[in-house]
Amino acid sequence: MPTGPDSRGPVPILALDVPRLAEAFRWLDRLGPRVDWVKVGLQLFAAEGPAAVRALRRAGYRVFLDLKLFDIPNTVAGAVAAAAAWEVELLTVHALGGPAMLRAAQQAASTPLRLLAVTALTSWGEEHWATLWGGSPAMTLSAWTQRAAAWAAAEGLHGVVAPAAELAGLRAAYPGLAVLVPALRPVGGPTHDQARPATPAEVRDADYIVLGRAVTAAADPVAAWDELVRACRA
Ligand code: C5P
Repeated sequence: MPTGPDSRGPVPILALDVPRLAEAFRWLDRLGPRVDWVKVGLQLFAAEGPAAVRALRRAGYRVFLDLKLFDIPNTVAGAVAAAAAWEVELLTVHALGGPAMLRAAQQAASTPLRLLAVTALTSWGEEHWATLWGGSPAMTLSAWTQRAAAWAAAEGLHGVVAPAAELAGLRAAYPGLAVLVPALRPVGGPTHDQARPATPAEVRDADYIVLGRAVTAAADPVAAWDELVRACRA
């Protein structure tokens, strides 16, 4: 059972990237009261559906549902309305859906649900980015992130998901937007499939951080969580 958030530094969220809900609860038992917020992503949601969200809410956890919704505005609005009914507090939509999709999503969001627009996936490296845009010098990852944030701000979303390198630029241009930074890693730690991992020093100014394999693949997950969260607040 969680004990409630600590107001210093970014809010840490545990990524429950596991195939079954029972395994998610084993992680939560192991990590104990230090975890307050959990991320339900595509893997767990595809396997267990809204029942996973309801069970986590019943156990007292705050839920970030990371579905990165990307569809026609009407369909996305319907999914957002459904998630609000499960007491999800944070939900992702993909910024690539553009202003009309973001607007429809925001109009469908009711309390306590707040929306985050995903700008770029942290697994996207330079090569992938160049492949997407044919190497156009005008379309840098920073330029795209700023454009996506402009849409999110204009449509009244709570914030954006962005790589750590974009955090300072987003803060300067859009002080009212919350920023969630995924892919946290200890300095020198394994990066797995992430091309843009974040170190604790880079995310101190973020609103939310996601801890996944940096914790679950560590030799001592409890110590890894405590050390990463401490470093993000130092
Ligand atoms: O295990 P790891 O720390 O790499 O997990 C990062 C988590 O953040 C994953 O659950 C992934 O789905 C999510 N995420 C991401 N990049 C984004 C948005 C979400 O890696 N832009």
